[in-house]
Amino acid sequence: MQDMRREMFTKIRNWIIGFLYKWIAKPIFFSMDPEFIHVWMVRFSRVLQSNPVTRAITGFFFTYKNKKLSQKIEGIKFETPLGLAAGFDKDAEIVETIRLSGFGFSEVGSITADPCEGNPRPRLWRIINEKSLRVNYGLKNNGAEAIASRMERTKYKMPVLISIARTNCRETCGRDQGVKDYLRTYKRFKNIGDMDVLNISCPNSYGAETFLKTGNVRALLMEIKKIRNEKPLLLKISPDLNRQSLDEIVELAQMYGVDGFICTNLSKKEKSRGGLSGKNIERKANRVISHIYEKTRGKMLIIGVGGIFSAKDAYKKIKLGANLLQLITGMIYEGPQLMSEINRGMVELLEKDGYSNIQEAVGKGN
Ligand SMILES: Cc1cc2nc3c(=O)[nH]c(=O)nc-3n(C[C@H](O)[C@H](O)[C@H](O)COP(=O)(O)O)c2cc1C
Repeated sequence: MQDMRREMFTKIRNWIIGFLYKWIAKPIFFSMDPEFIHVWMVRFSRVLQSNPVTRAITGFFFTYKNKKLSQKIEGIKFETPLGLAAGFDKDAEIVETIRLSGFGFSEVGSITADPCEGNPRPRLWRIINEKSLRVNYGLKNNGAEAIASRMERTKYKMPVLISIARTNCRETCGRDQGVKDYLRTYKRFKNIGDMDVLNISCPNSYGAETFLKTGNVRALLMEIKKIRNEKPLLLKISPDLNRQSLDEIVELAQMYGVDGFICTNLSKKEKSRGGLSGKNIERKANRVISHIYEKTRGKMLIIGVGGIFSAKDAYKKIKLGANLLQLITGMIYEGPQLMSEINRGMVELLEKDGYSNIQEAVGKGN
């Protein structure tokens, strides 16, 4: 009875917040520059997490918990499988607000060895009719030292993943210099965060070059192996890879003891500046998830990301083989109640399929 009342309360609460977002907040936000809104959202989130009153209010309006969604992966407890993808909390400033907004984990960064201003503005665009964003931030972040020091001073109540990328400058373009740059950040975060992610697929680095070439990946993983810390290690890959390149990367990952993949990063369209997110990449990301799940026979961790706008989208990725999920674009288009709505909706879908925990649905097909 109490459970039913709680579900009903969450449903009504989310409907009201969604309605207010759609008809009031979103038209205002979408009339302004997207980066300006992003910066202000991060500032506002810092205020929300700064004192017990605003923390309690945020939790009351956005949290949803259900033990059917809770699981342990690599010994780490995830209250819900839905996390915030890399690129929103670039400098690890708002992890507590993210938790209170209904996420089960956060990926901070991408972080580079040296601080970086990013690419010239404008560098973030909405493609409204495609429910997507075009992103060309160019790895703007405070740099490894500043972010590591901030994180060392903070205690986190949910898992935090560290996204590591190559500093966006000409000097890190070559293979050896690139590897050295990744290693500096990897070493600095040895004892910080719960998992490490090597972002080898950012389309917005210097010269619009990712680090996905087989030779680059091999060189990077060889060096990481020599100084490997105890945290699980993941590779973030691109939705634009063909089957052969995907297979090569999976084989290298297996050879060098990588634990899993984040599928996927932004998609790069020829000639246009930046990479695409959201509905534009959903099918491509899903193709990568199922390919990797089949290739690894479900033995490696998969985090599915790209175009999640509803519980159905999220559950689809789980059924294709994702153990965990992430999003950014959906939250921007649908509103801050989306995480709670997805979590609640996934519980309904699990119950419909007769599963008692999210882990049972992983890789069960469509
Ligand atoms: C504004 C923005 C900034 C991003 N920055 C990063 C980044 O720094 N590192 C990274 O690995 N991915 C970055 N991404 C990619 C996302 O983590 C994610 O892979 C992609 O947006 C697909 O998810 P979505 O459709 O839910 O947004 C960024 C995405 C957006 C929208």
